[in-house]
This record gives sequence, structure tokens and C-alpha cells, in this order.
Amino acid sequence: MQPQQKSVLCVGLVCLDIINVVDQYPTEDSDTRCVSQRWQRGGNASNSCSVLSLLGTKTSFMGSISRGPVSDFIVSDFSRLSIDSSLLSWVSGTTPVACCVVSRSNGSRTVVLYDTNLPDVSLEDFSKVDLRNFHWIHFEGRNASEQLQMIQQVVQWNSSVPPDQRVSVSVEIEKVREELYVLFNMADVVFVSKDVARNFGFESAKDAVMGLSSRVRPGSALICAWAELGADAIKDGVLFHSSAFPPMKLVDTLGAGDTFNASVIHVLSQGGDLQEALSFGCRVAGAKCGFHGYDEIAQTFGPEPVQT
Ligand SMILES: Nc1ncnc2c1ncn2[C@@H]1O[C@H](COP(=O)(O)OP(=O)(O)OP(=O)(O)O)[C@@H](O)[C@H]1O
Ligand SMILES: *[C@@H]1O[C@H](CO)[C@@H](O)[C@H](O)[C@H]1NC(C)=O
Ligand SMILES: *[C@@H]1O[C@H](CO)[C@@H](O)[C@H](O)[C@H]1NC(C)=O
Ligand SMILES: *[C@@H]1O[C@H](CO)[C@@H](O)[C@H](O)[C@H]1NC(C)=O
Ligand SMILES: *[C@@H]1O[C@H](CO)[C@@H](O)[C@H](O)[C@H]1NC(C)=O
Ligand SMILES: *[C@@H]1O[C@H](CO)[C@@H](O)[C@H](O)[C@H]1NC(C)=O
Repeated sequence: MQPQQKSVLCVGLVCLDIINVVDQYPTEDSDTRCVSQRWQRGGNASNSCSVLSLLGTKTSFMGSISRGPVSDFIVSDFSRLSIDSSLLSWVSGTTPVACCVVSRSNGSRTVVLYDTNLPDVSLEDFSKVDLRNFHWIHFEGRNASEQLQMIQQVVQWNSSVPPDQRVSVSVEIEKVREELYVLFNMADVVFVSKDVARNFGFESAKDAVMGLSSRVRPGSALICAWAELGADAIKDGVLFHSSAFPPMKLVDTLGAGDTFNASVIHVLSQGGDLQEALSFGCRVAGAKCGFHGYDEIAQTFGPEPVQT
């Protein structure tokens, strides 16, 4: 198989987002109308798949889902964006649904997720993945003990194949949960959220990547995005920064973080350098904040951008 035919695999959560766009965020116990409403496939890893695919990177999603009308919608949306969903793990239960309110006044997004606690992808599921199909795997940090073992399988794979068939790994550490922190030194690229950074006592992305750099392996990149302040990264003691690229008007910041991660992975998985990846991440994520959903990413940043 040609290396360029290999895909990026994202492992994590998929859910349905029911998105209500409002002019102004409603007050509690009020009765208002929204400007528009849409169903959108959501979940952090699933969103990143959308962005990767729109940018022209071949991608697959792996995560748990339950049969029903919600999964019908989700599966057809994966195929609409040419995202391979053959690694979905079908379990009994209820597919999670999030109700989101996006305010047109400043693009804020308020999310209420019904986390139905579907069992996470297990080591056994992951063992069935044919790693020959992938050159990069991104893990949304959810179940550290299980994911640690999955990454160990990738390490083992790497040591048994020629260099051009090795698989790089990225993880996001988004939740403030001690047990996830073992993932810091397991990956080539680690995304750490503002929440986690703050929880460690850091008040900027730069302080966070400097302060947490001893937790990642030598040679690995640690990346932290900080909304309108852009993003910072560190690799082998060298700092990188990109400012944000705010759109003319903020209309929808839902999934800006997932857009950022996917755009960074898009560049790095093609051999681009960290500075380039960081700037591209901020550029695409910033542009995304200026329109609803993700589809318009393809027009400006996709493989065949539309000339304007
Ligand atoms: N208000 C903004 N103006 C410009 N760029 C923004 C803004 N908000 C986010 N971004 C871009 O998106 C990137 C990620 O943003 P942020 O750190 O807010 O992610 P997040 O909180 O994980 O988002 P989400 O939870 O909606 O996925 C930032 O690095 C920046 O490039
Ligand atoms: C997805 O990421 C955002 C922030 O990046 C976070 O607020 C949200 O809780 C995550 N969603 C899930 C289902 O974990
Ligand atoms: C939008 O405004 C609300 C309320 O004033 C504020 O809490 C929120 O942080 C703002 N969000 C953005 C993305 O500017
Ligand atoms: C992680 O996965 C294992 C195996 O499926 C499960 O036993 C464990 O409860 C999970 N842990 C968390 C925190 O979800
Ligand atoms: C697999 O090999 C790649 C390429 O040599 C390397 O960058 C990466 O760290 C390895 N992956 C893991 C999880 O160790
Ligand atoms: C991207 O990284 C940020 C920071 O850790 C995190 O909040 C968000 O959930 C990530 N999304 C994915 C798909 O990893």
C-alpha cells in the first residue's frame, strides 16, 4: 500500500448535537424561539474526523454507538464526509445526545450532554484494527488504563515493521482527571486543554507547555490552545507560538478546539513542522468560528480551495 493512501484514525466519542442558534442566550425559565435548529454529528474525535476529511486527509473513526434513529443519522453523516466508519463498535444502550445553544451575539456555545456512558472502545476492539491502514492515530483521552494498552500495541507494532510503516500517536488531555495524566508521556503529540492547564495552576498556554514539558517524552510535542490568544507548543525545549486568526464576526465557536487539533494533525501527519502546524491550526479554527458547522472549511482550506 502507498503511504499516502494510509489514514488517520481518531478514537473517541461520537454523539448527536442538536444545535439551537439563538440571537441572545435565553434566561432561565423563559420561553423563546431560536433562529434555526440543526442536527449535527458531534463528539470531539468525530468532529476532528470531519475537519481532517474536509482538509483532504483520509480518515477513520473508532468509537461506541448504539443502534437506533440517532445512529442512522450519524452513520449517514460519516459517509457524507467520506469518513470510514467500519470501526464503529456497536453496543447496547443509548447513543449520547448533546443539546447545544449557540448565541449569534458572540458565538458562545453552551452544551448539555447526556453522557449515556456507553462502554469505551476496549483493548479487544482495538486489537482487531489492521494497523497497516494507518499512519497516525489520535486518541481522545477517556479511559487511560485501556488506552495505555492500545498505545503499547502501537509501540509494539512500530518495533516490528520497517520505519515507513510506523504509526504516530497523538492524545488529547482535556479532562481534569488525574488518571489521564499517564498519557502525557505516551504520544508523539499531546494536546492539553486550558482546563487542565489551569488545574495545574498555569494561566497561559506558554506557561502551561513550559511547566508540563517534563511530562512528555523527549522528541514529542506538547500543544496548548487558548481561544482568542492562539496556541503555544514546546518540543525538546524549543517554544512555538501562533496568534489567533479571529474571523470578521464570531458566529459559532462550537468545535473550535477539535478543528484546531485536526488541522494540526493534518499538517504534522504529512511531515510538516510544528510552527507550520500551529499556525495552520489557528488559521482554520479561527475561520471556523466565523461560520456554522464545519463544511465551509473545504472551500478555503480543502484540497481544491475555491478561488475568491
Ligand atoms: N474567539 C476566538 N477568536 C479566534 N480564534 C479562536 C477563538 N476561539 C477559538 N479560536 C481558535 O480555536 C483554537 C481552539 O480554541 P479553544 O482553546 O477555545 O478550544 P476549545 O475550548 O477546546 O473549543 P471547543 O470546546 O469549542 O472545541 C484556538 O487556538 C484559536 O486558534
Ligand atoms: C469536547 O471538548 C470540549 C472542549 O474542548 C469539552 O468541553 C467537552 O466536554 C468535550 N466533550 C466530551 C463529550 O467529552
Ligand atoms: C459571550 O458572552 C457571554 C455572556 O456575556 C460570555 O460569558 C461568553 O464568554 C462570551 N463568549 C464568547 C465566545 O465571547
Ligand atoms: C475503562 O475500560 C475498562 C475495560 O473496558 C473498564 O473496566 C473500566 O471501568 C473503564 N474505566 C473508566 C474510567 O471508564
Ligand atoms: C512509532 O514510530 C514513529 C516513527 O518512528 C515514532 O515517531 C513514534 O513515536 C512511534 N509511536 C509510538 C507510539 O511509540
Ligand atoms: C483538542 O484538544 C483540546 C485540548 O486538549 C481538547 O479540549 C479537545 O477536546 C480536543 N479534541 C480532540 C478531538 O481531541
